[in-house]
Amino acid sequence: MKKAALHKNRLFRRLLLAFVAAILATVLVLSLLMVVLVRRERTQALEAEVRVQARDVARLMQQFDSLSFWNGSEAISQTLNWKFEEIRANYGASVWLVNGNRRVLVLGDTDNAQEQLNDPDVLAQIYNVLSGREIRVQGLIPELGNDMVTIGVPWVNAYGYTAGAVLLHIPTRELSGDYRDLIRYTAIAGVIALTLGICLSYVIARRQTIRLNEISRAAGEFAGGDLTRRVRVSGDDEIAELGAAFNKMAEDLSRLEESRKSFVASVSHELRSPLTCIRGYVEGMLDGVIPQQDQARYLRVTLDETGRLTKLVNELLDLSRIESGEFSLNRTVFELNGLIAQQLFKFEQRIEEKQVHVEVSFAEDRMYVLADADRIRQVATNLIDNAVKFVDEGGTLTVQTRAVREKAEVSVINSGAVIPPDKLPMVFDRFYKVDSAHTSGKGSGLGLAITKRILEQHGQTIRVSSDSSGTRFAFTLELSAPPAQNANSNEQERGAP
Ligand SMILES: Nc1ncnc2c1ncn2[C@@H]1O[C@H](COP(=O)(O)OP(=O)(O)OP(=O)(O)O)[C@@H](O)[C@H]1O
Ligand SMILES: [Mg+2]
Repeated sequence: MKKAALHKNRLFRRLLLAFVAAILATVLVLSLLMVVLVRRERTQALEAEVRVQARDVARLMQQFDSLSFWNGSEAISQTLNWKFEEIRANYGASVWLVNGNRRVLVLGDTDNAQEQLNDPDVLAQIYNVLSGREIRVQGLIPELGNDMVTIGVPWVNAYGYTAGAVLLHIPTRELSGDYRDLIRYTAIAGVIALTLGICLSYVIARRQTIRLNEISRAAGEFAGGDLTRRVRVSGDDEIAELGAAFNKMAEDLSRLEESRKSFVASVSHELRSPLTCIRGYVEGMLDGVIPQQDQARYLRVTLDETGRLTKLVNELLDLSRIESGEFSLNRTVFELNGLIAQQLFKFEQRIEEKQVHVEVSFAEDRMYVLADADRIRQVATNLIDNAVKFVDEGGTLTVQTRAVREKAEVSVINSGAVIPPDKLPMVFDRFYKVDSAHTSGKGSGLGLAITKRILEQHGQTIRVSSDSSGTRFAFTLELSAPPAQNANSNEQERGAP
């Protein structure tokens, strides 16, 4: 029991672990993606801002250029200085102004900017700007290092010619901004998502395993002998299906157990009455209670009772063999009308005793079927035996055969007492007798159970109906073409009613 509980916990832990791993992976990937995307977005936005600043400087330079003749340049120069300060403060950028002669006019933090201009790569980019293009290069100035982005825009003089280049060098760290905040918030969101996810996973995993545990506990208790144990079925998932399947199995098993108990009770009951009778008579004869001259009569009754016992035991054996599938069918093609007529003949004496009127109606002259002839003989005997047993004195017994939709159908009909409709389905149950008081001593109630199982084994059906026109048992068999060699012997086997 302890081991089982351990296993169940293991399933719960495994489920939980799988859920948590999946959530963790999702949260991590999403957070990473978010950080990368937001960073890129921010960098682009800042770069665009810096470019606007560079264009501002270029415009100021243009004004400075055109105003120099009227001595208004002082104010512009001041404005430019403020602008540089602003750029430096806001973006940590250094500003270079390079004129058309490749002279550096204003320096940022780099003192030896003039020397840097001799670098062929730097020169090439300056020419690029001087030809009117805007540039963006990372790590352009070796001295500033690779972590600098240089944004360059041309500046145009009062006459509309490109007079120089505005170069802003911004550290990439400034461009991407302070993303520690971003990471912090993403981490907080991630932890919240993870906690919620774990809580939810815990609840789901618990719920699933609790339901499984309940089924497993119920199975244990059922196996321990509590046949009334069932599980609550809720939802429509696989576990609910498992619960429903368990309940159905439990239902079937308890029904089986019930029928086993009632079977044993019925067998004991059926055995007890003849045995008590035999024992009583034999004792009576031995201790002289039954006088000598009556002993022959009592011995005959005793013999009858032993006959009943033998019949009962044989029927029980038959039934158990058929049910366990021990009897394999020996299917052959034979002529059905002949076989039925033969069985009917065997009841001739009893039919005459009860003055029963017999009607035989065979729709076809010969009707060949594929079945186990011995078993079908047993079926016919059981049905005719019942009909003769339950037909009223001077009543009618009808036997019919006909072909219906590629099947042979045999009907045995007798007049007499009607079986009530609610009892009709039960007549095929073992030991069932409609009127047990009236028919006691006549049979054990196994005949129809055997009959039904034989026909089921053949894949065929038997139906019963009962009303004032009579009680009718009709069963089907598989029709067949006549056998080539056996045609003659079947001809001989056939008899007239
Ligand atoms: N032709 C019939 N007419 C009226 N009732 C019938 C007929 N056949 C069967 N029954 C009812 O169905 C019950 C079961 O029949 P079944 O043949 O199984 O048992 P049985 O004839 O009583 O005993 P057994 O066949 O074992 O000797 C009978 O006891 C009877 O009540
Ligand atoms: Mg019978």
